[in-house]
Amino acid sequence: MTYSELYAYAKSRLTDYEAMCIMEDVFGFDRVGLAVHGNEIPASESEFLTAVEKRAKGIPLQYATGKAYFMGREYFVGEGVLIPRDDTEVAVNECMKLMAGHERVIDLCSGSGIIAVTLAKEFPEAEIYAVELESKAFVYLEKNVKYHGANVNLVHDDIFNENCVEGEFDVIISNPPYICRNIIPNLQSEVRYEPETALDGGGDGLDFYRCIADKWLNKLKQGGKIILEIGEEQAESVSNLLKRQGITQISVVKDIQNLDRVVFGTMKK
Ligand SMILES: C[S@@+](CC[C@H](N)C(=O)[O-])C[C@H]1O[C@@H](n2cnc3c(N)ncnc32)[C@H](O)[C@@H]1O
Repeated sequence: MTYSELYAYAKSRLTDYEAMCIMEDVFGFDRVGLAVHGNEIPASESEFLTAVEKRAKGIPLQYATGKAYFMGREYFVGEGVLIPRDDTEVAVNECMKLMAGHERVIDLCSGSGIIAVTLAKEFPEAEIYAVELESKAFVYLEKNVKYHGANVNLVHDDIFNENCVEGEFDVIISNPPYICRNIIPNLQSEVRYEPETALDGGGDGLDFYRCIADKWLNKLKQGGKIILEIGEEQAESVSNLLKRQGITQISVVKDIQNLDRVVFGTMKK
């Protein structure tokens, strides 16, 4: 089939938007590229057709193409790793505003590595660590760090083991699992393709925030910053956990939908 025929086939199975995304991810063509090269025949069509079939079965678009985008960069994703969400930009933007550029930073529960890679690319002088437990996710973390040539120290470990990285930090940032366990079965069907280990925050959704407060905040330097992505109803509980461990100047930041999305603060001096 020609590129135009493949595109027409994809549109017969999926939405126009999805067909175009797969066109771009597999062949690198946008609409203009397609208009120019439409009558040509690709060297291979199997990757394109496989992605169309996967998406037609309800597999998330990013898993179908194996690619996702975050703050202007491309990341490899697939089964076993959370698909990056635009919401996470809120935490990364706050973190970048708080950083000068040479800090020692740890990204806990790193997943595909979007947070650690963005910070490493924006602040090449920073010393950045990324901790991820799940082996399938860790493979994507390693791959994305390598692909971007990012200066990130990779740690394949459990954040409940606070000794997995030695020393103190200027910045702790995390988008941990934060969904209440009993809500997970009711989530949108596409989310259920994603690993439960990336979503499950325990009975009240706060297990990882308690872990970070209890085990990691004593490794935050005086004047150091903590930035946490949160679920929309968790601002008060998470702020209280931080306050109890000496965090001051706590602020809550909303996302584009006006929902609480990030809590950040400073370790008292
Ligand atoms: C909500 S996802 C966030 C991934 C990534 N930071 C992002 O923003 O897209 C949480 C991640 O925590 C990892 N994780 C779960 N339990 C963990 C643990 N005990 N220690 C380290 N990582 C863990 C999951 O595998 C998943 O990759």
